[in-house]
Amino acid sequence: MEKTHKYQELGLVNTKEMFKKAMEGKYAVPAYNFNNMEQLQAIVTGCAKSGSPVILQVSSGARKYANQTLLQYMAQGAVKMIRETGSNIPVTLHLDHGDSYELCVSCIESGFSSVMIDGSHLPFEENVALTKKVVEYAHERGVTVEGELGVLAGIEDEVSHAVSNYTQPEEVQDFVKRTGVDSLAISIGTSHGAYKFKPGTAVPPLRFDILEEVEKRLPGFPIVLHGASSVLPKYVEMINQFGGKLEGAVGVPEEQLRKAAASSVCKINIDSDGRLVMTAVIRKVFAEHPAEFDPRKYLGPAREALVEMIMEKNTNVLGSAGRY
Ligand code: G3H
Ligand code: 13P
Ligand code: ZN
Repeated sequence: MEKTHKYQELGLVNTKEMFKKAMEGKYAVPAYNFNNMEQLQAIVTGCAKSGSPVILQVSSGARKYANQTLLQYMAQGAVKMIRETGSNIPVTLHLDHGDSYELCVSCIESGFSSVMIDGSHLPFEENVALTKKVVEYAHERGVTVEGELGVLAGIEDEVSHAVSNYTQPEEVQDFVKRTGVDSLAISIGTSHGAYKFKPGTAVPPLRFDILEEVEKRLPGFPIVLHGASSVLPKYVEMINQFGGKLEGAVGVPEEQLRKAAASSVCKINIDSDGRLVMTAVIRKVFAEHPAEFDPRKYLGPAREALVEMIMEKNTNVLGSAGRY
């Protein structure tokens, strides 16, 4: 009989089967970040309704914010809530940008089914050593591991600096072979947050040529795209209309994400878009109903809008809808 692991008791799965199916089906599994109950409810509702596998993603900041014990029960509750709707979508609980071996171990002990060890800022050999150590611990417990090569650029970077931070395709085979990672995050020009490209850039310069080189060297191996929010203009405009100030916010065009999802990119990370939607709706409610002070009256509509956005992304951008 196969050994059961801690995360399986919570009803979670690792990413192995999910990525295999995503690779074969030419779509990407969404990895949505959450910090609170309303975001988690929206993610699982949106994914269950659209029949999409889902990776619930938690950063170390989110873990501190929500409390690590509470988080574990929230994830467990989310799986039960999904099953009560009759949905059978697979759910992964994943550590986003883990920065130490100890943090990865702690997350695995508390029931995470997947972890990212982000050694991308380290020299290559140190990244290999740290990642390998995490993989050895994780694989013993059936947990999958995402590593990273190349650092995501920021819009303020000088061009030369940004270029030197792209993933170097000639390093990927050696890294994957020596570390044993299950997936690899690469840097092809996306960045975190709401300001990814200079406003007015007709076609943001994502380096699909690097992605193709990586695919050639690692055929059939799952690749991860971080910094993949589209920074939907509709919500940026709504935020600005109702008293916010987000000037020059630009994200990754949906067309480019569709292209990535059809390639070896099996996981697409989205955090900023969820933050923008909720902020836009909350600002609107406050502006239109200044006497409102029941959190359910502004968090409720924000949650509904997030469900819509998630269903839309799964259906029309990532292609993960209807796969379960
Ligand atoms: O990659 C970063 C994620 O968007 C998480 O952000 O560290 O503010 O929770 P955070
Ligand atoms: P965004 O900021 O584009 O949503 O990226 C999120 C991310 O990569 C989380 O790891
Ligand atoms: Zn990221």
